Amino acid sequence: MAPGYELVELPAGAGVDGPYGWIHEGLAAVSRTDVQRTYGDADLVESAAGYAALLADTSRYVHYRAVVASTEAPTTAVAHASVDLPTVDGADAAEFGLLVDAAHRGRGLGRRLYDWASSIALAAGRTSWVTWLDVPPQRPGQSPADPWPDPAIPDAHAGWGFARARGWQFEVLTRLFVLSLPTRPYAGPDQAGAPVPGYRLETWPDGIPPRWRGGYAALMGQPWEQATGGIDSNEGAWDEQRVLDEARSAADRGQTELWIGAIHEPDETLAGVANVGFPGPASAHAFLGATEPGPDHRGRGLTRWLMAAGLAELARLRPDLRRVYTWGIPDHPETVEAAAALGYVVAGASATLTRQVAPDVG
Ligand SMILES: CC(C)(COP(=O)(O)OP(=O)(O)OC[C@H]1O[C@@H](n2cnc3c(N)ncnc32)[C@H](O)[C@@H]1OP(=O)(O)O)[C@@H](O)C(=O)NCCC(=O)NCCS
Repeated sequence: MAPGYELVELPAGAGVDGPYGWIHEGLAAVSRTDVQRTYGDADLVESAAGYAALLADTSRYVHYRAVVASTEAPTTAVAHASVDLPTVDGADAAEFGLLVDAAHRGRGLGRRLYDWASSIALAAGRTSWVTWLDVPPQRPGQSPADPWPDPAIPDAHAGWGFARARGWQFEVLTRLFVLSLPTRPYAGPDQAGAPVPGYRLETWPDGIPPRWRGGYAALMGQPWEQATGGIDSNEGAWDEQRVLDEARSAADRGQTELWIGAIHEPDETLAGVANVGFPGPASAHAFLGATEPGPDHRGRGLTRWLMAAGLAELARLRPDLRRVYTWGIPDHPETVEAAAALGYVVAGASATLTRQVAPDVG
């Protein structure tokens, strides 16, 4: 690392109000600048308090964070790295993050932080590594139905060049879609998401009722093998306790959430779910996450119905919203088709990269 910079680790348990609060601020600020540049807005970046709440939750991960600051401005982060070690599932896995502010690149900060993160993962015996790269939209206003250009990550992407040189490989692209309101209002349930015979929707504003929690966990566990490139990590491990933990964690960060379940009436089983939420009462954006029809219930229009119902709930709760985000992976064509029908456009993508390392290799 070039002279004039210093790496500072966030001590475990250090909160946003204490002497290390500047690190939490730095994690948020460096991310905000980069995400703004990549996606055109920074809606999806947590606040410093939001990051602190995520780090305080150690029910499923041990979290490590470090920042780099210049010695001239020792409490202003210009780069950060993260290592999250799953503790419930994924005993081999380590989830990495690395970001250097554009004005400070090419000075060895990335290499230094990567070495810090790698040594933590190796010391913990973690040999299946996973990370996610933000990829900008390849042209503005693209429909979710348009094919993603090949190569999925442009060769000029700095993080991809850095990662490839270190033995990482590309696994899968998760696309981010955004619906702008009210300039592109959703088509409404009648046109975009008609009810599917044999099913009913239930809305759960106060959390998932106990009788559906097991079914919800089963649905949430299904697609994540894709998003972690086949690496077994906490991302794919869902049980009833996690359903409660995730809702509590979101509430701790000030989020409002509600859930919609699609019930298959002939056997009264949970056939699909959707989750909508927004970060706070004044936020301009919301997200429509985790729209998951079960494997036996696909191809019937349930995804569209759930997504349209989610938008209708948001319109009722927060008519002032300006943007709604959702995500789609390639093996989930229903989400992509529904997003296109509802008027979403591509906002960017997240590329999953993995690396398998031998225990004694950095
Ligand atoms: C990738 C990133 C962290 C590199 O940070 P940096 O501080 O500029 O990197 P360094 O100066 O430490 O350079 C480290 C190495 O990466 C190489 N590198 C840096 N930018 C590169 C690029 N655009 N393409 C290819 N290689 C690159 C350097 O040549 C150097 O190689 P070496 O170790 O063989 O000498 C930074 O560009 C970034 O934050 N990008 C966006 C976020 C991201 O994609 N993060 C995920 C990374 S896995």
